[in-house]
Amino acid sequence: MATPAPIERTRVAIVGGGPAGLLLSHLLHTSGIDHVVLESRSRDEIYRTTRAGILEASSVSTLADAGMDRVLREGDRHDGIALRFDGESHRIDLHGLTGSAVWLYPQTEVFTDLADRAAETGTDVRWQASVTEVLDIHTDSPGVRWTDAEGGSGGTERELRCDVLVGTDGSHSTCRHSLPEDVRRHFVHEYPYAWFGVIVEAPRSAPELVYTTSEHGFALISQRTDTHQRLYFQCDPDEDPAGWSDDRVWHELQRRVAGTDGFRLLEGPVQERSVLRFRSSVVEPVRHGRMLLAGDAAHTVPPTGAKGLNLALADVVVLHDVLTTWFARRERDEALLDEYGRRVSERVWRAQHFSAWMSRMLHTHPGESGFEHRRRIAELRTLVASEAGRRYLAEGYTGWGSVLPGRTTEGAM
Ligand code: DHB
Repeated sequence: MATPAPIERTRVAIVGGGPAGLLLSHLLHTSGIDHVVLESRSRDEIYRTTRAGILEASSVSTLADAGMDRVLREGDRHDGIALRFDGESHRIDLHGLTGSAVWLYPQTEVFTDLADRAAETGTDVRWQASVTEVLDIHTDSPGVRWTDAEGGSGGTERELRCDVLVGTDGSHSTCRHSLPEDVRRHFVHEYPYAWFGVIVEAPRSAPELVYTTSEHGFALISQRTDTHQRLYFQCDPDEDPAGWSDDRVWHELQRRVAGTDGFRLLEGPVQERSVLRFRSSVVEPVRHGRMLLAGDAAHTVPPTGAKGLNLALADVVVLHDVLTTWFARRERDEALLDEYGRRVSERVWRAQHFSAWMSRMLHTHPGESGFEHRRRIAELRTLVASEAGRRYLAEGYTGWGSVLPGRTTEGAM
């Protein structure tokens, strides 16, 4: 009979090694707080998942301050976006209106920077480590059971115990599911549309991102490199991306951006297609016993405005601040951990509102009446015609400033 693996101990067990988990790990490392990260996927599998590409200035300064400044050299700073409706584009001067900007730097690059840094510092990150059970969150020694790289029945089951357990394990979070039903409140909103996302091999069609709405629905013209672009268009949540030829994708995109100004997208081969479902969700509380939730494990937003990754990074900056204070104190008062939820909640709900508002303003509701379509266009027209309206959008898009009090995100950038 195999001998059971010994129980390991650490101070913080982080379940989930995406950007939120790895950033928290890096911050704890710099504070000298012992921890272990368990991630069910391999590093390569995470890298190959295409995700959103926009970072707020505060996310950029979080990464740069932590020594990961490749974003400043290789990311593209965007000082504006275009809103396009009735076949015409209207520029929103993000920088002129707020003094801030956003960076086009895909989430996979953020992940690479964090994973490289973890490897350099020798942080204990275990890939292909699947958590099977969350243990004893009501005690002062919570933990997890997990299986190693072999996975499934072949893997060795192990146990990790800690002082604090953090769930950064994404929207299907195992940790979230261990919140007892009688304390968990889950606020959810579903949308009757999704995004069809493609990567195309083509040059940029416009200098800045274009968010467009037309009688055929929404489209977003984003970017990646000089040779590859990221484009999205509104579709049915049950759409099968495999059924779409390149010609059909381009026809759909071109008719959504078409206008009197003759704007057209530069075409090329479609290299990747996928459907991204929309969901707004917030779970409360984000602390129960010795377990805390951050990032997509705690909340998800629809993709319009690209708030998801930014919110996740903002969460862990605050969580790290709270944990360092908590570990520095002698008494282990769990209520002190509630500081985390109190401090992140306002940003989370603002981002919920912003993402839902942008989504509703720019997407065609299936079966939308002529009245509703014209009302949405009037909303967009009122917004772009008013400096206050443009600033309201720009403040939300750039993320309402710094995450920690007393910090500014300007300066070096
Ligand atoms: C991208 C995604 C978004 O959701 C968005 O609002 C802007 C850009 C992107 O993947 O490039």
